[in-house]
Amino acid sequence: MKRIISHAITSFILSGLILGTGCEMPDPPEELDVDEVMVEEPRVEEPLVEEELTRATAEISPLNVREVRGQVNFQQVPEGTRVTARITGLDPNGLHGFHVHEGTDCEEPGGHLSPYDHEHGAPTDPRDERHKGDMGNLEADAEGIAVYDRILVNVTMDAPPTIIGHVVVVHEGPDDLETDPSGEAGDPIACGVIRLVN
Ligand code: CU
Ligand code: ZN
Repeated sequence: MKRIISHAITSFILSGLILGTGCEMPDPPEELDVDEVMVEEPRVEEPLVEEELTRATAEISPLNVREVRGQVNFQQVPEGTRVTARITGLDPNGLHGFHVHEGTDCEEPGGHLSPYDHEHGAPTDPRDERHKGDMGNLEADAEGIAVYDRILVNVTMDAPPTIIGHVVVVHEGPDDLETDPSGEAGDPIACGVIRLVN
């Protein structure tokens, strides 16, 4: 394409020169096929968004004989916090309650993190009808591996009350997303402390 431009420019200059000398009438300049002339693409301005707002992570380790392990990542996004996780060793095709608890130690995880004393709910419930730590369920596949990816609106890392330092708990059974205060999800089977990454 560059060649087309330079050719076009050359013929333009040439015709100008010939005109300038006034010797003879030049052939009419070659008509430019506009579609063929390559126009430089306009520069797309990158939005000035800070690349990493806040990130945190929790390494999930087993609390009993079951080898439930994995990692939970928290990334602040404009809408809230994006929580992503990959956990292995779960019941094949099973649901497992998944919460941030108020404790700061996996030995004593306490109840679901709920600084404003709300009742238990689903991660999709309005923020005043659920615990801050209610992340719903991990859904395991046939291999017992769960992949989780959800944006939670009221989970915060920067502004208090932060989730940093609290624990993420994986439960034995499904969270019914309703029954206060625990969703009847059964015993904790794996846990990890949330730590700031940056
Ligand atoms: Cu829990
Ligand atoms: Zn809850």
